[in-house]
Amino acid sequence: MHVTGARPNFPKAAPVLAALEKRGVRQLLVHTGQHYDANMSEVFFRDLGLPAPDLNLGVGSGSHAVQTAAMMTALEETFLAERPDLVLVYGDVNSTVAAALVAAKLGIRCAHVEAGLRSFDWSMPEEVNRVVTDRLSDLLFATSADALVHLAREGVDPDRMHFVGNPMIDTLLRLRDRFDGSRVVAEVGLPDEYAVATLHRPGNVDDPAALDRLVAALRATADRIDVVLPVHPRGRERLAASGLFDHPRMHATEPLGYLEFLGLVEKSRLVVTDSGGIQEETTVLGVPCLTLRPNTERPVTITHGTNRLVTPDTLADHVDGVLDGTLAIGDQVPPLWDGAAGERIAGIVVDQL
Ligand code: UD1
Repeated sequence: MHVTGARPNFPKAAPVLAALEKRGVRQLLVHTGQHYDANMSEVFFRDLGLPAPDLNLGVGSGSHAVQTAAMMTALEETFLAERPDLVLVYGDVNSTVAAALVAAKLGIRCAHVEAGLRSFDWSMPEEVNRVVTDRLSDLLFATSADALVHLAREGVDPDRMHFVGNPMIDTLLRLRDRFDGSRVVAEVGLPDEYAVATLHRPGNVDDPAALDRLVAALRATADRIDVVLPVHPRGRERLAASGLFDHPRMHATEPLGYLEFLGLVEKSRLVVTDSGGIQEETTVLGVPCLTLRPNTERPVTITHGTNRLVTPDTLADHVDGVLDGTLAIGDQVPPLWDGAAGERIAGIVVDQL
């Protein structure tokens, strides 16, 4: 049983489902309902060719405790009714940790895809989710070698961890030919040279003082290059009220589907983001990524790929460096980000069932 719920889960689960399907494993896909807007969820199922969820728990939004508790209550009923041999969870969202907790208490084995990533920043809800999920998981699938080091340090038995590569990149490589940002380019009226920005971390958008500094830095970016910013529901009102979109070269859009978003990213000059997954996608696409965060749980995107950590104070200088070619940025794709991670995961899962 696969448990998903939030936007970043879907491109990670898709290749694992497909690879297990090929091996004839009986599977159920559960959607907790953490993300429920059509442009945060449905569009991904369509774009990725995912089967409709067998079950949508319809949990929706709430505080962390309210949302996680509602997921756990509904997941417990589901696990008891279906008695899966293995629960697969993805990434670091609340749906991930909720499913791992319920599985552990019911004595059902749990596999964590994207295990061992650490920002070491406990102010991030995702860091709490990552550490707890890994502690509760029986099988840990790592996307990068540093993750294995973290898990070993935390006492995880080496027999339970597997370096399999990055299933989100399987999806990217499979669908790359179909990436297409042209509708958005036309509707927004973007010139050939443009940047893509995304912003949704609580640490950035929930705190008014932090948001003010970011808005100033993004305006400075838009002074240099047109910026298209698909606006995540978190922080939507605050961003709109900040006056950011009064800048003539700063263009807001609704959240975009997978193929449109990566179509825009692929053809962009640079990306400014606080997302986790986009740091990895830009690395594979070879697009410079300036990450507005004090740390990253994905350091391989810096050591190998195109990622740089920036602050609101240093963003404009980095944008200048990318635009004038003076900022040296990596161009290596990390080991095993080769499109076969789902196959590796499925091979190991089948051995364990
Ligand atoms: C969640 C993940 C985050 C991930 C992000 C990707 C957690 C703790 N965080 O953050 O790691 O990077 O997804 O998108 O799980 N909302 C809508 N429509 C929706 C979903 C949410 O309007 O379909 C609004 C609601 O006001 C909600 C807010 O967005 O309260 C936040 O949603 P939530 O699921 O709590 O977390 P995200 O910020 O989306």
